[in-house]
Amino acid sequence: MAKHIVATVDEIPPGGRKLVELSGRHIGIFNIDGEFFALRNRCPHQGGPLCEGKLSGLVQSDRPGQYDYSRPGEILRCPWHGWEFDIKTGQSWVDPAKTRVRNYPVTLESGPELEPEEAAGNTGWVKGPYIAETYSVSVEQQYVVVQLT
Ligand code: FES
Repeated sequence: MAKHIVATVDEIPPGGRKLVELSGRHIGIFNIDGEFFALRNRCPHQGGPLCEGKLSGLVQSDRPGQYDYSRPGEILRCPWHGWEFDIKTGQSWVDPAKTRVRNYPVTLESGPELEPEEAAGNTGWVKGPYIAETYSVSVEQQYVVVQLT
């Protein structure tokens, strides 16, 4: 299972999202009230960019003219044909028995503050011959980490 740092925690505020590419897979990372979730950015209907869709809530109705609206910001609507998915589980609300979008485990991990290039493991820097006297300083940062399975 490969772990990837995809963002600092404060980079994706509640209600926000970030789209990333990990090992050739396009993935959307969502923050719902401080909890993070990762979904594949490929709609199981016809391959639309699901994670670019609008956020909404769950609308349920027992009879015409009456409805309940709940879980605002937790349902993702595909921009191509409007199929809706639960961000927390990847479950479809169009065809709940059979259709879901791939989701990935997300954890929050603490570590020293990294430059974005360092976090990606690619600085492109070359060391010079001189070394200055240094003192250890530790700045802790919380990172959003996605596990690809
Ligand atoms: S491609 Fe997403 S609803 Fe059709």
